[in-house]
Formats: sequence, C-alpha cells, structure tokens
Amino acid sequence: MKNVIVGILTVVIFASMAYVASKGRAYHGGEAAKGLGTFQDTQASAAGAAPAQKDDREIEQEELKSLKEKAGNINAFKVSDEYKSKCASCHGVNGEGTVGPKLIGQTSEKIYEMLIEFKSGRKENTVMKGLLLGLSEEDLKMFADEIGEFPARAEAMKNNQ
Ligand code: HEC
Repeated sequence: MKNVIVGILTVVIFASMAYVASKGRAYHGGEAAKGLGTFQDTQASAAGAAPAQKDDREIEQEELKSLKEKAGNINAFKVSDEYKSKCASCHGVNGEGTVGPKLIGQTSEKIYEMLIEFKSGRKENTVMKGLLLGLSEEDLKMFADEIGEFPARAEAMKNNQ
C-alpha cells in the first residue's frame, strides 16, 4: 500500500514538473516571464537616464578626441609615416629643420636632386648617405614629392584655423 502511494505521488510530482517546464519558467522566457519582462521594462524607463547617459558619454568622448586632434595639429600638418619615421627626427616634423637643414619651402625637384647627390656620394654627407643607401630612387622621389608639398600643406592648415 505504501509503495502504491509513493508511486502515485511520484507520478503526480513528475507530471506537474513537466507541466511547469512546458509553460516555461520565469527565467526561461515562458508564459510566466511575461510579467517579469514588463516589470523590467518599466524599471528601465523609470530609471530612464541609463541609455541616454551612455550617449552623452560617447558624445563627450568624441568631442574630446576631436579637440585632441586639433590641439595636435595646431603647429603641425599631416605628413606620411615614412617621413615621420625616417626624416622628421633630423629635419623636423614639418621639415622646419633641427639637426638637418630646413627642407620646407624647397621644391620637390630640388629636394630630389639633393637626395640623389647624397645617395650617389657626389655630395658628401655620411649621415644622409648612410640613411639613403637603403632607399630606392623611387623612395627618394616619393620623399621629395611629399616635402615639395609641405608649404601647400602648411598654407591649407593655416586657412583651416
Ligand atoms: C640623422 C639625421 C638625418 C636624417 C634622419 C635625415 N637627414 Fe637629411 N640631412 C641631415 C643633415 C645633417 C643634412 C645636411 C647635410 C649637408 O648639407 O651636408 C641633411 C640634408 C638633407 C637635404 C639637403 C638639404 C639642403 O638644403 O642642403 C635633404 C633634401 C634631406 N636631408 C632630406 C632628407 C630626407 C628626405 C630624409 C628622410 C628620408 C632625411 N633627410 C633624413 C640629417 C638627416
């Protein structure tokens, strides 16, 4: 008799578990979760500010970024990474000259000519010669063309401010 009662209870418990599972429990997105969902929605809209706050922060960060970019560009126009890494250390970020002579203001033809002279050794300079050995004439042309553009870039930057 005891076994029969236990058996029936077991069946009833499993049946109701199956029923609840089929309806879906609150955290599994079943019927019961609907109430919870609306509750969460209301909370979110009551708090209201949460998504908006994120937007504000994003906008702030963008503004800061553009400000920083502007600040970085006040005294310098954009140059290629090649120029920055290979030439800027001695000729200045914008060719204004530091250890090496000022380059800005010279035409690209003149720059190219001088680079070829250094490279060929016709014009003696160990620093420049050593540096230019690893560069092809095409590279030199590219540098010369870029440096020839420096005055125009400087002018464009001035006009933008
Ligand atoms: C390690 C320092 C150094 C680096 C790096 C360097 N230069 Fe020079 N450069 C010099 C020096 C010093 C002179 C002056 C040589 C002289 O006139 O005898 C010079 C001279 C020049 C000249 C001739 C300028 C003139 O008016 O006589 C040009 C053009 C030039 N460099 C271009 C470049 C380019 C382009 C790069 C990058 C690929 C570069 N240099 C990298 C030190 C450097």
